[in-house]
Amino acid sequence: KRHLISAADLTRDDALLVLDTAEEMARLADRPIKKLPTLRGRTVVNLFFEDSTRTRISFEAAAKRLSADVINFSAKGSSVSKGESLKDTALTLEAMGADAVVVRHHASGAPHRLATSDWIGGSVVNAGDGTHEHPTQALLDAFTMRRHLAGAPDGGPTHHRGPGDGTGRDLAGRRITIVGDVLHSRVARSNVLLLGTLGAEVTLVAPPTLLPIGVERWPCEVSYDLDSVLAKSDAVMMLRVQNERMNAAFFPTEREYARRYGLDGIRMAALPEHAIVMHPGPMNRGMEITAEVADSGRCTAVEQVANGVSVRMAVLYLLLGGNEPASPANTNHRT
Ligand code: CP
Repeated sequence: KRHLISAADLTRDDALLVLDTAEEMARLADRPIKKLPTLRGRTVVNLFFEDSTRTRISFEAAAKRLSADVINFSAKGSSVSKGESLKDTALTLEAMGADAVVVRHHASGAPHRLATSDWIGGSVVNAGDGTHEHPTQALLDAFTMRRHLAGAPDGGPTHHRGPGDGTGRDLAGRRITIVGDVLHSRVARSNVLLLGTLGAEVTLVAPPTLLPIGVERWPCEVSYDLDSVLAKSDAVMMLRVQNERMNAAFFPTEREYARRYGLDGIRMAALPEHAIVMHPGPMNRGMEITAEVADSGRCTAVEQVANGVSVRMAVLYLLLGGNEPASPANTNHRT
């Protein structure tokens, strides 16, 4: 495949290939020299029209660890502020010889527009578009879940039993609860799609006003009661309340939201012992998650960021078809 626009683009085999390749990439992180020469001479452009910390930095780190040249473009401070269009910006970057364009945009559908245009010749990777999708976030979330939860055929706790044990390549039967501002969340949509492909059972928990129209057609359950689902969750993913996209008329007060949908220490204690707490970041501490939970050993938010580098290395490697084997065992060729 040339592009990654939606988690729905990935078959089960595609997703498992990315996750298995990411495991290979993760092994590099433990080595003194963390680089592979696989994308030497290739150029990756990070095209960010919307703010980002984790995604932009981790795509940059991923491309550099594969020895690609990286061009970072941020709309802020660029000629976009003078009114330059997406097309002219894309054509300008194409002139620099981009082999892959990693795009984040406030408009849902912008990466798809780029991928189906003749403005860009290389691969397009969606790094988050509006309220639509964030497929590499879903992949890194699945990678994190698989490391903690995969591998027990009986559904029991299996901390840190990864795919290497041969019993858990996917997330079949794992129960994942996604909580909060689903309406504005591209992370939720991509996770629901990918987790379904990997066999997990997903429940969305949100106030009715923060669920999108048509959610009943998504491949998941919906609940309005967080307390009723905690005890049967293998992972609970807290979504950021996206105040910048919020219409205040439809939002409960912050206090009311935290009381009904926030994860605090008392609620965390209701989770099974093996369950993990996830957050894609950035976090609103005190709103969807308390500092006590965010800083606890059960919260994987920082681990998710580290895993994001390995997963994005895998995505770039697979899309750009590196000329060298991905395995870090190929150390003779490292730069
Ligand atoms: N999770 C995520 O996409 O974070 P950033 O907005 O910081 O990239």
